[in-house]
Amino acid sequence: MKTILLSAILAAGVLSAGTVQASPDLAKSAGCVKCHDIEKKKKGPSFQASAKKFKGTADAEAVMFKTITDPNGDHPEQKAKPEDVKTMIKWILTL
Ligand code: HEC
Repeated sequence: MKTILLSAILAAGVLSAGTVQASPDLAKSAGCVKCHDIEKKKKGPSFQASAKKFKGTADAEAVMFKTITDPNGDHPEQKAKPEDVKTMIKWILTL
């Protein structure tokens, strides 16, 4: 039983690695890195700081999505596709 469980965890890790790997490139191509860095504060907070802030928050993904895409919110305009923003939020929350 333990072995089966471990294999399942490993398989899940391999599957999700694709998203995690693709996202730094996505952050670059979508222009997020102009204002954000993974570790350092630039114009906007570091992605690690945001991850810390939102981890454990109920509906973290939805709240972050609204923050980033709401034209009436504080976030500067960005031109990423909504599905790319969602992928990046998932990645940010793993940092
Ligand atoms: C023109 C500069 C700029 C660009 C481009 C930009 N951001 Fe931001 N971002 C900011 C600033 C400034 C803040 C802080 C203000 C705020 O919290 O809304 C911020 C805040 C955030 C936060 C944290 C929100 C919070 O409440 O802590 C996240 C997450 C984020 N941005 C993600 C992204 C992603 C993903 C992209 C690319 C699609 C992106 N940003 C593009 C400037 C930018």
